[in-house]
Amino acid sequence: MPKFRKHIFICQNQRPADHHRGSCDPTGKGELQQVFKKKLAEHCIRGDQVRANKSGCLEQCEHGPTVVVYPDEVWYGGVHAEDVDEIIESHIVGGHPVERLRIADECLNAERCPHKPRKSS
Ligand code: FES
Ligand SMILES: [Zn+2]
Repeated sequence: MPKFRKHIFICQNQRPADHHRGSCDPTGKGELQQVFKKKLAEHCIRGDQVRANKSGCLEQCEHGPTVVVYPDEVWYGGVHAEDVDEIIESHIVGGHPVERLRIADECLNAERCPHKPRKSS
């Protein structure tokens, strides 16, 4: 068996609609993970090389929907289905993280940041 090259963890935490921290998967259907899996397959990236794993809360809720890629330790926020192609092509295939989607270092695990509590949009 080849070693996994990367794990993509996709938060699927669902909270009530009025929760102040919001939730990364408001429908609870795991649609974003399904898109990652589908797009990886379309790019002929096998599941024994790169895994798109569902995850519980990654504690970056205010920046969600949250995705983290390991071993790169690259955190993405505000990820939607239409961003997945770019993440796969630029980062997973090309090795260049998608800067516009990265959670800023000063936000990551910060007690306070401009996004807490999550602003309603
Ligand atoms: S709900 Fe997704 S990071 Fe917390
Ligand atoms: Zn922030």
